[in-house]
Amino acid sequence: MAPFPREPETLGSDAATRALSVTAVESDFVERVYDKLAIVYDLTFGPTLHPGRIQARDRMGLQAGDRILEVGVGTGINTSLYPKTCHVTGIDLSRPMLEKARERVAREKLTNVRLMEMDATALTFEDESFDIVYAPYLVSVVPDPVAVVNEMRRVCRTGGRIIILNHFRSSNPFLAAIERAISPMTIHIGFKADLDLPAFLAQAKLEPQSIEKVNIPRIWSLVTCVKR
Ligand SMILES: C[S@@+](CC[C@H](N)C(=O)[O-])C[C@H]1O[C@@H](n2cnc3c(N)ncnc32)[C@H](O)[C@@H]1O
Repeated sequence: MAPFPREPETLGSDAATRALSVTAVESDFVERVYDKLAIVYDLTFGPTLHPGRIQARDRMGLQAGDRILEVGVGTGINTSLYPKTCHVTGIDLSRPMLEKARERVAREKLTNVRLMEMDATALTFEDESFDIVYAPYLVSVVPDPVAVVNEMRRVCRTGGRIIILNHFRSSNPFLAAIERAISPMTIHIGFKADLDLPAFLAQAKLEPQSIEKVNIPRIWSLVTCVKR
C-alpha cells in the first residue's frame, strides 16, 4: 500500500477511557431520524460530502473481484462509485434509506450491489468475509462507534482495509467548544458534531496508515487502516 500523509494526533493520557462525545443516543432514535431524512438526504448530504466519498474510493486500491462491505449504505449514494467488477454489499438500519438505495441500484442497473437491512453492531457475516470494510459518515451517528469498528474488523480479512470517513471534533479548542455545544442539537439532523478522533482511535484500537482531511471546509477525516 502506498504511504499516505498522516497528520499528527494528540492522544492525551485519558484517550482510552474518556467519553467520545457529550451526546448519548439510542439506536431507535437514530433509525427514526434517518427514516425521516431519507427523502431529503441526497439533497442535503449529497454534493457537500461527495469529494470525501470519491477520495475514500480511491484509497481502497480496488481490484477486480474485491468484496466491499459498506456499513451504513444509506440511500446508496456511493454504490455507483465502485467498479462493476467488485462485489458490493451495503447494509443499513433504516428501511426508508434502504428503499432509496434499492431504487438507485435498480435505476443504475448495479447488478454487483446487494443491499441488506442490518445493524452495524451485529453483522451477520462470517469472520474475514470482505476485502474492504468501509463506513462512510457513520461512526458519529451510532450509539457505540467502538462496537461498530469491532464488527468491521471481525468481518474484514487479514490484510484487508478498514476505512472510516467522518467528521470529528476539531483540534482547535475554540471550534471544539462550539462543536461540543451544538452536538446535542446536530444529533437531531443525524450526527454528533463532537466525536473525539484520538479517543475513538485509541478505544477502537485502530492504527491508521493515514488520516487525511477531506471535503470543503476540510473538517472531515478519511481514516485508512489495514487489518493486521
Ligand atoms: C449519514 S448516513 C451515511 C449514508 C452514506 N454512507 C453516505 O455516504 O452518505 C448514515 C447512515 O447510517 C445508518 N445507520 C445508523 N445507525 C446504523 C446502524 N447501527 N447500523 C446500520 N446502519 C446505521 C443510517 O440509517 C444512515 O443511512
